[in-house]
Amino acid sequence: MDYLKAQSVKSLQGTIDISGAKNASLPLIAMTILANNVVNITNLPQVADIKTLLKLLTNLGATVSFDNGAAIVNTTTLHETKATYDIVKTMRASILVLGPILARFGHCEVSLPGGCAIGQRPIDLHLKALEQMGAHIEIKAGYIEATAPEGLKGCNIIFDKITVTGTANIIMAAALAHGKTVITNAAREPEVVQLCEVLLNSGIPIEGIGTAILTIKGSGGKLINIKEFSIIPDRIEAGTYLCAGAITKSEITLTNVEPKHLGAVLAKLEEMGSRFTTTDTTITIHPSQDIKPVKIVTQEYPAFPTDMQAQFLALATQANGVSIIEERLFENRFMHVSELQRMGADITLNGHTATVNGKTDLSGTDVMATDLRASSALVLAALVSSGETNIHRIYHLDRGYDSLEKKLKGVGAKIERLKE
Ligand code: EPZ
Repeated sequence: MDYLKAQSVKSLQGTIDISGAKNASLPLIAMTILANNVVNITNLPQVADIKTLLKLLTNLGATVSFDNGAAIVNTTTLHETKATYDIVKTMRASILVLGPILARFGHCEVSLPGGCAIGQRPIDLHLKALEQMGAHIEIKAGYIEATAPEGLKGCNIIFDKITVTGTANIIMAAALAHGKTVITNAAREPEVVQLCEVLLNSGIPIEGIGTAILTIKGSGGKLINIKEFSIIPDRIEAGTYLCAGAITKSEITLTNVEPKHLGAVLAKLEEMGSRFTTTDTTITIHPSQDIKPVKIVTQEYPAFPTDMQAQFLALATQANGVSIIEERLFENRFMHVSELQRMGADITLNGHTATVNGKTDLSGTDVMATDLRASSALVLAALVSSGETNIHRIYHLDRGYDSLEKKLKGVGAKIERLKE
């Protein structure tokens, strides 16, 4: 297995090019199941999760080519409707094929994704909404067995909680349903917005894009001619590198980024003392030499994203004062805390709230990644720790960050990928 060896640097400088968003790519790849044509996708990130979902599509009978961020996906040859445990267990976002397969074939079997490191990750809201659309769903031997022999019918769905992939699943199911679906309490993440925009551009009437109430007029079972599209920039990757600039007090510029997707993140970094110069596609961070403490509560978009919580917790160890970080979405998303404490961070956990006393000098040691965003928090801490830090189990990192160590080396970080 690979690990990363990193050590502190005086400062970083230069530009980092942001890749396409993993969390936009996954639903959009699943959406190709609805296509009657070969679909061209560009600006896909070269990360493990994308390769996993493309492999799942080939297991279902699609033919896929994926090279240098561009994919050509031909699902006209799809003939299987079972997403098996071996693939789904490696990536729970495979649940995104449930809606599309059911809408296209009238039946499907998808392995229950199970929980993951950060929490139980239930999918009850996905299943309840599909049942409302006329699906019959049974759980048998760890599989979701869903049937809708007459196809799905449009209806009014009200999500009890805001769910990103739940909203995406139902948007895709509604795109092929008979009649109109109204989704209330829909997720408004930019990744959900792009899914709606691509479907709209491919002829599916969708109203309310970007709001909590979506109205989708289904095609009545007809497959869709999906126009080619390019994945939006990854706002979480971008936020992670902005934290790298803030924690090392370095001025760096991000290119191919969408500043308007980072409102809450930029606001919190400004509260901590950073300033920014932005254009339509770039962000330059002008970091503070005196990092201020911060209060953060993670919530759904456009509020502060849970996927940036771990990175800000690492940054807060370098703030002068007490920061309070509350995680409201997932029940176990503080596993980076114990590793940061081993590096010398002064953090107290009380239920869903972390209190971070800064500034503490961190020292490098062997640490273990536990989940995708926790891994990036450990990398950020390593950039300001004395001595060397070895970050193990970075397969977590490789799920969602495209060439992280190359991008950081490109701005002067001392970081190497080595074999255990
Ligand atoms: C998406 O996960 C993202 N993954 C996650 O990013 C992100 O952290 C999360 O949204 C929240 O923004 C992808 O887009 C592939 P949810 P998702 O359904 O859709 C509860 C990363 O690091 N819930 O919005 O699985 C759930 O338990 C990953 O890139 C139910 O109770 O998250 C959670 O408390 C990690 N029942 C809350 O809703 C359901 O049926 C939000 O979950 C579904 C969700």
